[in-house]
Amino acid sequence: MDAPLEGRRILLGISAGIAAYKSPQLVRRLKELGASVRVVLTPSATSFVTPLSLQAVSGLPVSSDLLDPSAEAAMGHIELARWADLLLIAPATANVIARLRAGMADDLLSTIALATTATLALAPAMNQQMWAHPATVDNVALLRDRGTHIWGPAEGQQACGDSGAGRMLEPTQLADCVTHQALCGEPRLIGRNVLISAGPTLEDLDPVRYLGNRSSGRMGFALAGAAQAHGAEVTLVAGPVNLESPAGVTRVNVRSARDMHQEVMGRASQSHVYVGAAAVADFRPVNTSEKKMKKTGDGGLELSLIQNPDILKDVSALIDGPFTVGFAAETHDLESFAAGKLASKGADLIAANQVGSETSGFDAKGNALTVLGANSRLALPLQSKLSLAHQFWHHVADQMEHR
Ligand code: PMT
Repeated sequence: MDAPLEGRRILLGISAGIAAYKSPQLVRRLKELGASVRVVLTPSATSFVTPLSLQAVSGLPVSSDLLDPSAEAAMGHIELARWADLLLIAPATANVIARLRAGMADDLLSTIALATTATLALAPAMNQQMWAHPATVDNVALLRDRGTHIWGPAEGQQACGDSGAGRMLEPTQLADCVTHQALCGEPRLIGRNVLISAGPTLEDLDPVRYLGNRSSGRMGFALAGAAQAHGAEVTLVAGPVNLESPAGVTRVNVRSARDMHQEVMGRASQSHVYVGAAAVADFRPVNTSEKKMKKTGDGGLELSLIQNPDILKDVSALIDGPFTVGFAAETHDLESFAAGKLASKGADLIAANQVGSETSGFDAKGNALTVLGANSRLALPLQSKLSLAHQFWHHVADQMEHR
């Protein structure tokens, strides 16, 4: 698969938060994606994670002291500031955020932040009360106005025992943010509300069995993260999948096709675009047993199925509804089946993908798409779902302008 961060130079700044213990994982993930990573720690961050482990995973010297002559002789703070394409500070404590806002330069990390022209991104991590404090709210707002990317924080249980917003995003989520930022180019969805469905729907037969499919949700989640990076307000209606939410995206979890239909229809009219990347079950059992079904004798079992509502068709039929993009998953005759679905479902575009192979489609990291419209056709070759998602949005934004 492609290495979307090939050639990128990322300077990872680590400040003194408990989440610093996750930094080696982040370094490893960024390197897997092709980036060169150098690490700068604040002096107190060395109490949470050792420079030696970061040097081992990054393969490069780690710096923490502004006044260390040997480190300055190897690569001084100005060279580090010039070297980076992206300065990502993760975790970024309330203290670091306040000092960045004030433009202080009293340690290596803050000095580099002041001296660099690289893109600056922060992954805040702090107690929920500190995150909600008006001082932090002001500091973050001002940094955003200056063009700083703020990735997270997530909500949940905190090391101090509190629960709320303030947890650093997971390393995989941060690596996705870095990738989206690198792939995005000109943001195409500023001011747009984007609604995306993703993953499978599961249709229960009894309390322990269901009818389902192999959708992992990766394609829809990649589209959601990419749309967010393009400046959209994104709502992701997700079937049962084992994926972290993309940063900054509102997620609504559902189980069955009828649940998904309800959640999508309730939001479609307020959306500018709807993308149906979910693999929605066409049928559900007529009856769902409240108790586990038992084998009786040696005979088989006949199931009666009934059709589920067609979400894409219903959204496309809305008067003043959103621009609609469906997906078509086919094992053969890809374009002719997809063209049939474009017409029968009334969508503006259909993104056709070949399924049934290990390298693309269902439950794979990569995919290839042919995006068909009434008067347009774009073939996007096999690549990671994240990079595909960006090419998809550039095309959809073009098509929306011509609607
Ligand atoms: O989740 P991944 O593992 O990353 O895999 C991605 C994917 C292969 C699932 C995705 O790229 C994809 O192709 N999704 C659509 C799969 C599908 O069910 O296709 P379909 O041909 O059955 O449906 C066509 C379109 O109608 C889809 O947009 C689907 O969301 C929609 N539909 C289908 C049935 C239904 N009852 N309601 C719908 O809205």
